[in-house]
Amino acid sequence: MTDRYGIPTGAVQIAPSILSASFAELGRDIAAVERGGADLIHIDVMDGHFVPNITIGQPVVRAIKRIATCPLDVHLMIEEPDRYVDDFVNAGANMLSVHVEVAPHLNRTIALIKSRGVKAGAVLNPSTPVSALEEIILELDFVLVMSVNPGFGGQVFIPESLNKVRRVREALTRAGSSAQIEIDGGIDAANVADVVGAGASILVAGNAIFATPDPEAATRALRATVDLVARV
Ligand code: DX5
Ligand code: ZN
Repeated sequence: MTDRYGIPTGAVQIAPSILSASFAELGRDIAAVERGGADLIHIDVMDGHFVPNITIGQPVVRAIKRIATCPLDVHLMIEEPDRYVDDFVNAGANMLSVHVEVAPHLNRTIALIKSRGVKAGAVLNPSTPVSALEEIILELDFVLVMSVNPGFGGQVFIPESLNKVRRVREALTRAGSSAQIEIDGGIDAANVADVVGAGASILVAGNAIFATPDPEAATRALRATVDLVARV
């Protein structure tokens, strides 16, 4: 089954974050997670201003687009995201998310992303309240809840994020929205049951997949855990 953007909508989707992949072997690593059952490829774009780290930009996304078979889920951790929406859409993003902390005109930003035929998401930092979404919630295709402070892979899951996912789920239900909840940061086999139970249906995983000797097997194992949880 696919949604109106042509993106597969399994009950729970796995989005390996290439931040923890080998940047010299991106093609190899992306092919491995796709064989392992990845649903999306999560790409972390960082500008060294909004977050301390600098990662990759539009040319690399374009190169990934040529080899990836999964849709690209591009997470913008950059200031002034409006300036770069078209660049990342043209590079091949299928989903584009912006942080509410750096989007003073979020309504316009989300409308711009959607007008380009791309799925639009708003991201909440751990310290940003769910209420920040109140006036925009019906416009969103997905909400990304950060379960670590953005900037780096391999950080520890912040336990309070579980309650946050529940509160986002309640807010979406109250508003009559069918938007998905994505969770990003410190996700591994030990907490997937909790995050899925709380209402998340897109799981980003970086270290849990790429900091292992076999990313294909790690994706398959995470997929199996998720399928077990989703069936209960
Ligand atoms: C953090 C990024 C994440 C990161 C997740 O700023 O947004 O996507 O790659 O990595 P893990 O799963 O290792 O926490
Ligand atoms: Zn991310």
